[in-house]
This record gives sequence, C-alpha cells and structure tokens, in this order.
Amino acid sequence: MAKVKTTFFCQSCGAQYAKWQGQCNACKAWNTIAEEVLQKPEKSEWKTPVNQTKRAAKPLKIKDIDVFEEARYDSLDAEFNRVLGGGIVPGSLTLLGGEPGIGKSTLLLQIALKLPYKTLYVSGEESQKQIKMRAERIHLDANNCYILTETKTQRIFKQIEALEPDIVIVDSIQTLHSDYIESSSGSISQIKECTTELIKFAKETATPVILIGHITKDGNIAGPKILEHMVDTVLQFEGDRNHVFRILRAHKNRFGSTNELGIYEMQGSGLREVSNPSEVLISKKDEELSGHVIAATLEGARPLMIEVQALVSTAVYGTPQRSTTGFNAKRLNMLLAVLEKRAGFRLGAKDVFLNITGGITVDDPAIDLAVVAAILSSNEDAPLSHSFCFAAEVGLSGEVRPVQRVEQRILEAEKLGFSTIFVSKYNKISLKNSAIKVELVSKIEDLVDLII
Ligand code: TYD
Ligand code: MG
Repeated sequence: MAKVKTTFFCQSCGAQYAKWQGQCNACKAWNTIAEEVLQKPEKSEWKTPVNQTKRAAKPLKIKDIDVFEEARYDSLDAEFNRVLGGGIVPGSLTLLGGEPGIGKSTLLLQIALKLPYKTLYVSGEESQKQIKMRAERIHLDANNCYILTETKTQRIFKQIEALEPDIVIVDSIQTLHSDYIESSSGSISQIKECTTELIKFAKETATPVILIGHITKDGNIAGPKILEHMVDTVLQFEGDRNHVFRILRAHKNRFGSTNELGIYEMQGSGLREVSNPSEVLISKKDEELSGHVIAATLEGARPLMIEVQALVSTAVYGTPQRSTTGFNAKRLNMLLAVLEKRAGFRLGAKDVFLNITGGITVDDPAIDLAVVAAILSSNEDAPLSHSFCFAAEVGLSGEVRPVQRVEQRILEAEKLGFSTIFVSKYNKISLKNSAIKVELVSKIEDLVDLII
C-alpha cells in the first residue's frame, strides 16, 4: 500500500510545514498548524477540450497586445455591475464573502436567474428543491439557469463539459472537494486545490466563475489568505442582519476600482437594488429633533446623504461612556477633544452616543462636520433645520478642512431639496447660480455661531 503523505498547514495563513510546531513562522499565530493528508495530483483536473481552447499563451510584444476592452457580460443588475467595474469579465474568478445569512446565496441566485446567458449554479450547501423554493420567492422566470448540487470538482467539470455554460457560480468554495487531496472539505489544501482547478478552467475557456466564500468570526474569508491572492476580484457582502440594507463592496478588483459600492434592500421577495440610496437612508420626520444631522458623503463615485444621530447626556457613572455605531470611536474621541479645547464645550463629564442610521459604516472624513454639528445640537438640545447638510473634515486645531469632489456633494444636496450646505472655506467651488446656499466655514467656532 502506498504511504499516505501528510503535510502541516497553518490554518490562518496557509504556510506549509514538514512537521508540527506551535507557532507559525509566517503569521506568528499560535496553535493554528494542523496536519492534512494529501496526494500529489498526477494530472490536473480540468483538461481543456481542444476545440474550446481560446488562447494558448506565447510571449507578445506589449504594443501588439489588443487594447480594446474585452466585452463584459452584463449581469442586468446595475449595483453588481458597478461594483465589478462594468460587468462580469470573461475568464475572471470572483469571490463573494460575507457572514452567514447575510444573503450571498440569494444575491447570486437572483443574478443567475436574471442573466441572459447560460448559467450553471453549483450548490454544495442546499438541495435542488431548496434552491427552487428560494427561486420561487424571488419570482423570476429563467430559462437559462441550470442548478447542480454537487461537491466533487471532478464531477462538476464533467457536467460543465457536457453543458458548456457561459457563466459558472459555485456556492461555496468551502464545500468543494477534489479527489486528489484526501483531507476534508474546507481545509486549506482542499480550498487551494479546488480554486486552482477552477482558475485553470476559467482562464482556459474564458468562462467567468463566481465563488461564494464563508468568512470567519473576525471577518476574514475562511481559508488561507492566498485564496484572495489567487482570485481576480474579492467582493464583500455586508450589513447588519437586523437592518434591511446590504452593502456590496469590492476589496480587490483587477478590472476596476475598489471604491464602488452597491446597495440592496432585503425584502420578502429577494434583494431589491437601491438606485437612489440617499432617499432611503434619511428618515422622514415631521418634527425637528436635536442631535439629528445630515452629512453629504461620497461612497466611491456616488454621493450619499447619511443621517448622523448624537445623544449627549450627563454621565451617570464616574467614567463617561463613548459609544458609536457605524463610525470610528477613536475619531469621535478626537472630535470631542477638539470641541472641548477649541470651542470650550465641557464634554468631559458627558456620555456621548453616536449612531449612523441604516446600519451602514462610513469612512469618508467629510462626515466630521456633521458629527460635530450633531453633538453640538444634542448638547444644547437645539434642533437643526431639516434642510441643512454638512460636508467637511475637521482638523486637530478645529480648522474645517476641504474635502474631495465637493461640487458633486453640493449637486446631490441640491437635487434632494436641501436649502443650505456647510462646507470648508478652503474648498474651491466653481458652481454658479445653484439654488442651494453654500455656507463657508473655516473654524468650528464659526459653526457654533452659525447653527446655535
Ligand atoms: P442567504 O442567501 O441564505 O444567506 P447566505 O447565503 O449569505 O448564508 O440569505 C438568507 C436570509 O435572507 C434569510 O435569513 C432569509 C432572507 N431572505 C429574505 O428576506 N427574502 C428572500 O426573498 C430570501 C430568498 C431570503
Ligand atoms: Mg448560502
């Protein structure tokens, strides 16, 4: 009998060792090295039929390479297309990660049903009946979508060869299993092997493959980091499970920008594309409430109006609490210190709570001025007008700093019917005769005078 070959892999970074050790030399994590059985593959699994080979690699002078954009597959989902940079690229491997239950399978099934191309949806997680039931909830008729429930890559490739689909979707990479590796599904060596086989298939036949990946409890895609290096695009599907909004972001994209953002709303009948997010993110109220302020932010190329809510109250315990949802807590502490030092507000003995509504997280520094305004408004219990919005960064000395693409923000605010937008005095604005009043602020002291 042949000797069983085993190797040791770090489960967090994928580094390979000949024998067990306590700490991984590569990523310094403890107790992550585990033994996995493997057999060297004699031959790689995907063998391209001769008639399907679209290109055989040979060196070309760079100036001889065709420069025209390869035609992309239109997914008929504007948000998905935008995040990918304009559609699905032939021969690309896309990895979609996200927490369990966030809606990854729903999103891709919905896209598979809509696609006007022959699509194969391979599921190792659900039965064909379950998928059919889900498809019925989504209410889409599809003639081009094939469902296969299989986890062995060898058998999947056999079906692919027979069906010749234009696009392949795999739910999920952690359930796949290749015969050449004996360790169980989801282990490092299995994930590596299955992905390698899929990459070979995708590149040789120019068929795009979309993979679903599970994430670990600290938010990384389960399996080795090399998985993220191997694929062309890594998308993250995120959101608060108790809220209806879901956000699709690109963490890595070889064919487009990573700044783009897709927003969906989870409904009883699948995910709805949110094409005008500002309108849904701002809660409609008749009364003006203190501490509620609108910020004009940008996510990627898209302006987004976001509601910031602050609550400032006297601390009950000795140590005041600072808590944030959707905003960096360190940034809040910095803004509070600036307010204390530069504008003379005694916030040291106050609890401060800050919340970005809609369950989304904002990194855009242009939200600073809105945060400051919300804190001031709550502290003074003075409601600000609904028709004000803010777009500027705040520096350590209390200076109000310019932000990028301010004109786009002003136009969005104008479109949504705001009467006044507060921006930095140092922003160069060449907009003429706009209906919105642009209030220029240079220090936060000015803001205090203007709004209180
Ligand atoms: P799912 O796609 O199974 O999540 P994942 O694949 O990321 O684990 O999403 C499951 C959740 O979505 C589930 O809790 C129910 C909800 N859902 C709806 O609200 N409406 C729908 O039409 C569908 C299909 C699911
Ligand atoms: Mg799923």
